[in-house]
Amino acid sequence: MSDKTVLAYSGGLDTSVAIRWMKETYGSDVITLTVDVAGDRDLEGTRQKALAVGAVKALVADAREAFLNGFVFPALKANAVYQGVYPLATALSRPLMAKLLVEAARQEGATAVAHGCTGKGNDQVRFDVAVAALAPDLKVIAPAREWGMTREETIAYADKHGIPVPITSASPYSIDENLWGRSIECGVLEDPWVEPPRDVFAWTASPEETPEQPAYVEIGFEKGLPISLDGQRLDGVSLVLELNRVAGLHGVGRIDHIEDRLVGIKSREIYEAPAGTVLVMAHKALEAMTLSRDQLRFKERVSAEYSDLVYNGLWYSGLRRDLAAFVNSSQRHVTGTVRLKLHRGNCRVVGRKSTSSLYRHDLATYDEGDAFDHSAAPGFIQLWGLTTRVQAQVQPEEGGGDLS
Ligand code: ARG
Repeated sequence: MSDKTVLAYSGGLDTSVAIRWMKETYGSDVITLTVDVAGDRDLEGTRQKALAVGAVKALVADAREAFLNGFVFPALKANAVYQGVYPLATALSRPLMAKLLVEAARQEGATAVAHGCTGKGNDQVRFDVAVAALAPDLKVIAPAREWGMTREETIAYADKHGIPVPITSASPYSIDENLWGRSIECGVLEDPWVEPPRDVFAWTASPEETPEQPAYVEIGFEKGLPISLDGQRLDGVSLVLELNRVAGLHGVGRIDHIEDRLVGIKSREIYEAPAGTVLVMAHKALEAMTLSRDQLRFKERVSAEYSDLVYNGLWYSGLRRDLAAFVNSSQRHVTGTVRLKLHRGNCRVVGRKSTSSLYRHDLATYDEGDAFDHSAAPGFIQLWGLTTRVQAQVQPEEGGGDLS
């Protein structure tokens, strides 16, 4: 009986060629697993294609809810955004796919799992490390990292073996997409000076082609989780899909990033993340109102650390879990509603309210009803500035303390 391998199968060129290549190279029977984290896939078509190319069995999984609840929303609670701009759509999907691969491998009695990543990116790291964490005994095969074929050679290999080359392979770009965003690289984008041509974008309108009138959206959160849109309670998948649509219509969520990959290279990445952009902004606005200054400052550091861990393939690390526990605890009072205005590619918070709001009008107001004790200020400042005053007396600086 030959060994069985479960391959994460997208239906694209590389993973299709991989089915055949693994049989040829390792004599391994390939079972494919197609994970739907986007919702617009022709799953049955992909399944049939896998079988036609030579898979002994083709599995599919609708993992959209699991993706949002288990990966995206925990990251949203942490405001996880890599290098301040990338909401991590691709990065978040890999640990889920690895988990499903491992589960399928156990069910099918496979000794290995496989993925279509090359040896240059972050995704190989995310798959390999996640599988190692969840199932140290399973072998991980990465055909596209091993076979050393150029794109042309891969196409020639496909032609030779009667593997249909999908039309998307004709696209000059490499694209990965799921509910949380769309990642685009390669082609002319590799020149960082070149403005992304319009055919790069599929989810967002160009700002000059967006509606003249702005749109408003109201997002309701409960303990850090988005639960409603414009007053209507929605499940996560519907909420994210609808936000992708309306924010995309107004050109919100385009990201152009010179990014630092884990393997040490800088790469130019374009992202479309309409829902992600709006939700992170809204979530931060609600936190600004419901968390204390100290909680906010500390959480900012946790957020940067958390984002790096996700990006760098360490989802299943002890530290990511520990930080997630802190993040979850921090969300106890992050309940309320945020109103945002979408217009011509911009998204701005224009209103927020919460029953746990720490904003007190009677303390903040400059009008009638001011409850802030102004007479307490001089004493406070006296102590606040004490260290500085003593130091200035004892260690007078040349130039009268002008440190520039
Ligand atoms: N650079 C991004 C990341 O590492 C996206 C990679 C997406 N892959 C692709 N085929 N476009 O998460």
